[in-house]
Amino acid sequence: MKTVVTTPQLRAALAADRAAGKRVALVPTMGNLHDGHLQLVRRAQKLADVVVVSIFVNPLQFGANEDLDSYPRTLAADREKLFAEGVQYLFHPTVDEIYPAGMAAHTTVNVPELSDTLCGASRPGHFTGVATVVTKLLNIVQPEVAVFGEKDFQQLAVIRRMVADLCIPVTIVGVGTARAEDGLALSSRNGYLSEEQRRIAPRLHAILQECREAIACGFDNYDELEEHARAALTEAGFRPDYVSIRDARTLREVTPETEQIVVLGAAWLGQPRLIDNVTLNLNPSQDWGMLVAG
Ligand code: PAJ
Repeated sequence: MKTVVTTPQLRAALAADRAAGKRVALVPTMGNLHDGHLQLVRRAQKLADVVVVSIFVNPLQFGANEDLDSYPRTLAADREKLFAEGVQYLFHPTVDEIYPAGMAAHTTVNVPELSDTLCGASRPGHFTGVATVVTKLLNIVQPEVAVFGEKDFQQLAVIRRMVADLCIPVTIVGVGTARAEDGLALSSRNGYLSEEQRRIAPRLHAILQECREAIACGFDNYDELEEHARAALTEAGFRPDYVSIRDARTLREVTPETEQIVVLGAAWLGQPRLIDNVTLNLNPSQDWGMLVAG
């Protein structure tokens, strides 16, 4: 595995791979790698010959009061994990490499509407920071495929829309959420949790699952379900940001055309803010209902 820190170095190395007819996949990360990240890497390896993993803690996507300075930076351990997975390139640029003239005057990519709701409502500018850095990484690497986690469901939706709107020639692939045995979604931010908080944390997933079960059983008063879930989170010791039941494709409200529902939740547990989501396909049960009715 080669560790590369500048764009020209990476482009030169990849030019040789391309000349040899190889397909390239990109897995963008902010490091502190866990098994969720490694599942993206494994999927990328199935889809391409050469895998580039980027590790860049992107300051543009952190708000003023967020954890940019304390965000865990564990390069040596990350490098070992990627080496063990057989990754070809680790791209680890500096902030100056990505934002040479600073961030304030830098061109940004804004995906309206999708970026302003849910996590975007409580983290203004966050998705513009994500969309901007992902655009840059896609332009630097020019991969055939780029792999992202469904754990960050809204982020994946923003990136899919951005790639479609800006005609970026890449296939975006989403990978399901890797979880601890008790259901907690793996996340770099779980390291911030105290022992007591870690014990409470899986309730977020459990409560979203309860919503999903209720919907699967035909309960369709979503306002009531969301309210109930927020109360359950508070009861468990969280400070809920939102629980929202949406159309998984549009992230707008559920309509009769909705084929897949997503139940998204975000809540603070002390300082750390955790997010999670679960999805439910409506088609199979509709088909089944029609078969029974017919
Ligand atoms: P980061 O939080 O490091 O996540 C990198 C990728 O790993 C994202 O696509 C994320 O959805 C995925 N991921 C994280 N936890 C996961 C889990 N438990 N299961 C499956 N996938 C998981 O997301 C970012 O970095 C940044 O916003 C980035 C896209 C790199 C732009 O800076």
